[in-house]
Amino acid sequence: MRLPHAAAIALIAAAAVSVVVARAPDARLREFRGAYPETARPNGIVRERALTAAPADVTFPDGRRLAVWAYDGRVPGPTLRVRLGDAVRVRFTNRLPQPTTIHWHGVRVPNAMDGVPGVTQPPIAPGETFVYEFTPKDAGTFWFHPHLRSSEQIERGLFGVLIVEDAHPRPYSRDVVWVLDDWLLDHGEIFPEFNTRHDLIHDGRWGNVITVNGSTAERLDVAPGDRIRLRLLNVANGRVFRPDLGGLPARVIAVDGLYAARPVDPAGFELAPGNRLDLDVTIPSDAAGRSWAIVDRFTRRDIPLATVVAAGAPVATPQFASPAAAHVPAWRDTADVAPRTEMRLNNRVGGPFGIEWTINDAAFDHAHAGAAHAAFPLPRGAWSKIRFVNESYRLHPMHIHGLFFKLLARNGVAVDEPFFRDTVLVHAQETVDVGTVPLDPGLWMAHCHILEHAESGMMTLVDVR
Ligand code: C2O
Ligand code: CU
Repeated sequence: MRLPHAAAIALIAAAAVSVVVARAPDARLREFRGAYPETARPNGIVRERALTAAPADVTFPDGRRLAVWAYDGRVPGPTLRVRLGDAVRVRFTNRLPQPTTIHWHGVRVPNAMDGVPGVTQPPIAPGETFVYEFTPKDAGTFWFHPHLRSSEQIERGLFGVLIVEDAHPRPYSRDVVWVLDDWLLDHGEIFPEFNTRHDLIHDGRWGNVITVNGSTAERLDVAPGDRIRLRLLNVANGRVFRPDLGGLPARVIAVDGLYAARPVDPAGFELAPGNRLDLDVTIPSDAAGRSWAIVDRFTRRDIPLATVVAAGAPVATPQFASPAAAHVPAWRDTADVAPRTEMRLNNRVGGPFGIEWTINDAAFDHAHAGAAHAAFPLPRGAWSKIRFVNESYRLHPMHIHGLFFKLLARNGVAVDEPFFRDTVLVHAQETVDVGTVPLDPGLWMAHCHILEHAESGMMTLVDVR
């Protein structure tokens, strides 16, 4: 068929216009460019190790003995340290009495390495081995934990730290990790009932013993002049921490792994389950004999977390500018942009535990995880707004695998944090908007990191493609 000449030209012109319009990157996408890499830059080095999960009997630094489940017999599990560009290969063996998996929280891995049973891999049965292999794309503080019956398995002690150092790490005097956790102990044992009605109607399981690196009296001895990179992680099932550093000279340089655009005051930061906070701490050179008490002030009862004690002769303070992200988009003026995805968070009576937590009135079915569950589509390489609407009166630290997002607004009021996150705390009855540009294709989990909420349904999938 032949079109009349004029009509053909009009069609061609229309096609050209629509192509231009479709390809024109919107301003928010342009602003994102270079915020973090689309591909890893492997350096050819493979960091390989074995890792085993098994029941263990541990003695904490304060003398407490406890029957736990542990990675390589330790709680916290081992800290894996690699450099940006290294490949990580972990030969994992399950010696637990239950199937399990390992999820690499915050790490942009190939989807098949994400450790989600029924979605990215079959559960790893007792006695089986699975090899996780990936090259992290981002430097920062990450952690790993089971993604199967996690409200029980993480609570029993299964968590470890993955630190991806910069290709050229800054010369800090020390690099220190503080793993914040709580335990519900009963007669010297881990209280053996999980996903109780009490946990479910509240903010998950909150323990009666609070530990940092497994200690109820964690102490960091420093020299005057030391400059320390202090990495905080919250691995608790439900507890939120709001650390008061007691005047310790510290600035936040990274949140949930990625560097902030500039150092930020740590005051008031709410470290929800899943969150990480990297601090740049300089001990004054005249601080000999001083100490700082670090206290949690999230609840009405102040909880001592750790003490930093300065002693000895002063050392030279390493001089360098705090590491920072080269570029974090501001994404201002997004209030009127419609969310691509809205997740309403609520609960109802029903489900295997008697109460189930829902996203848009659906409770995630862990037994049939990948199969029928509808995923929220998110276009790869495009800007999307995601809205969390908390219709309940409980807390929901919402976490999405495989991507970072930036907080845009709380209850319609713009918030400009100069950093990305992978987990954001949504308070009672609050609406939180985040913006994201997913780069990594796959089916990724989106869920509440209060593990009892996730276990009883507050979990879904986003489909990035
Ligand atoms: Cu720590 Cu699905 O997450
Ligand atoms: Cu929740």
